[in-house]
Amino acid sequence: MADAANEAAPFVDFQDVWLAYNEELLRANHFAVEAIDLKVKRGEFIAIVGPSGCGKSTFMKLTTGLRMPSMGRIRIDGAPVTGPLKISGMAFQAPSLLPWRTTVDNVLLPLEIVEPYR
Ligand SMILES: Nc1ncnc2c1ncn2[C@@H]1O[C@H](COP(=O)(O)OP(=O)(O)OP(=O)(O)O)[C@@H](O)[C@H]1O
Ligand SMILES: [Mg+2]
Repeated sequence: MADAANEAAPFVDFQDVWLAYNEELLRANHFAVEAIDLKVKRGEFIAIVGPSGCGKSTFMKLTTGLRMPSMGRIRIDGAPVTGPLKISGMAFQAPSLLPWRTTVDNVLLPLEIVEPYR
């Protein structure tokens, strides 16, 4: 019974989520994303498609806890998102390699700077 309840509960759960990227934009009511209501079940595969600037990357930053919403509630696996999630990985669309490091040293960078791997 508990397992059935778990399967039914959404893995990703956005409730009326809004994000302004900074205080000035918030004061101006300038939101990068507005009123996102979305539920994704465990194991479900989704794709978000839309024109440049519609908020796809912003949605991923919110889902992975890299950005906190200005308003609304985000739960992942039943728990409120309070910061970067350890269970998620994200390939950024813009290159974020450090040119002065070798390839392998770039790959190892998270092991140097990210808790709890440091
Ligand atoms: N760091 C930021 N500061 C302020 N505004 C931002 C920032 N990053 C994105 N935005 C704005 O948020 C909105 C959504 O941008 P986002 O990057 O999420 O779009 P996208 O759908 O991923 O676009 P693309 O297809 O070009 O990758 C845009 O209006 C963008 O200008
Ligand atoms: Mg993007």
